[in-house]
Amino acid sequence: MSIINVSELKPNMILRDDVRDNNGRFLLTKGTNLTMDQIRMLKMWGVIEADIEVSEQEHTKQEDSDYADAKSIEMAEKVTSDFFMHTDRDHPAMRELFNACSLQKAVELARSKTDTVYDNSFRIDSCIAVVPEHLTTEKGVLEYITCDIELPTLPTVFMKINETIMNPKSSARDIADAISLDTSLSARLLKIVNSAFYGFPSQIDTLTRAVAIVGTKQLSILAFGIKIISMFESISSDTIDMKSFWKHSIACGVISRIIAGYKNIRNTERLFVAGLLHDIGRLILYSYMPAVALCALQKAKETSGLLYDMEHEIMKLDHATIGKLLLKKWKLPFSLEDIVAHHHIPQKSQNQLECSIVHLADIITNAIKIGTSGEYYVPPLDPFSWDRIELSEKVLTSIIHQSDRQFDEIIQLFFSHEN
Ligand SMILES: [Fe+2]
Ligand SMILES: [Fe+2]
Repeated sequence: MSIINVSELKPNMILRDDVRDNNGRFLLTKGTNLTMDQIRMLKMWGVIEADIEVSEQEHTKQEDSDYADAKSIEMAEKVTSDFFMHTDRDHPAMRELFNACSLQKAVELARSKTDTVYDNSFRIDSCIAVVPEHLTTEKGVLEYITCDIELPTLPTVFMKINETIMNPKSSARDIADAISLDTSLSARLLKIVNSAFYGFPSQIDTLTRAVAIVGTKQLSILAFGIKIISMFESISSDTIDMKSFWKHSIACGVISRIIAGYKNIRNTERLFVAGLLHDIGRLILYSYMPAVALCALQKAKETSGLLYDMEHEIMKLDHATIGKLLLKKWKLPFSLEDIVAHHHIPQKSQNQLECSIVHLADIITNAIKIGTSGEYYVPPLDPFSWDRIELSEKVLTSIIHQSDRQFDEIIQLFFSHEN
């Protein structure tokens, strides 16, 4: 067998057979000596496997097995079991995810990349947080958020972008002009469009071309996601590492977009931004209601419980509802609001498929431990969502590898301050 996962392809491997996408569209001919751009293109088109010359495949497999020795695997399984304690490991998807995470952890441990087995990045001191009385009822919390605190507002550049998009007479040039009013946003957008996240084979050097290639709505929603991060960059939190929070959010966005690609969903930027914003309600908790956030974190740690269950216990609602309120205030599309509101219970969503995708992406992100929004354990997978997505569990490892490839670059672009 010489069929390998696309995530394992490397430049100079030679295709033993033609490669087609999920719809049978011809992409590359057999005998092709693969380049990095071609590998990116295959990932972008959602290709899962490719048939390559045997010698290279054997070399690739050897690399991983070299590092995962028996002792590391045993230790990794123990650690991973702890993270997965709230999940049903008899479910095929969770079993697959558990195995993938255990192996990843084993390789990390064997390579001594990490000297600790836990990545518990939220900070809790010994004092017990006292939650004000009015924040212990749903009514009280909703009143506090809508009347007593001033939630962040969207910059005016977005009004201009939205106005231009809504005008049917607007050209790609008009939209590019509206975005270019914010120079740092424009620079970041162009970098992202030219990154592995998109994997376009040639350079896109103007916003007008980016609008034409990526699409008006897609580029504007991407612009929105980038801007949100910069809006919250100045907000400090003593309770959580903000960079870790955004890593979790960006990873969830990247993975949501990859899953959407497998489902042949168009406009995957919407899924990226939905993933990016799924836990934004928690940011409001950390920033404006620190006593609630701290108390929830303490309770979760003491009882080995899930953080969103603790939020419910304290406030009678959770971060998903708070996130929905913020998105409503910003007058974002209802589809985004709906996904954020129901990312832990996709059955209640009006767009169950897309909500289920973000739900799954959140679980994968928690499992592979890229950053954290405060949740220590892997949240349980809703079996309804899994069935709704209709993916084979075999692609989960591939999704993790694909996200790994895109994530390092995209995180640098989001946090780059040179522009
Ligand atoms: Fe969440
Ligand atoms: Fe999350």
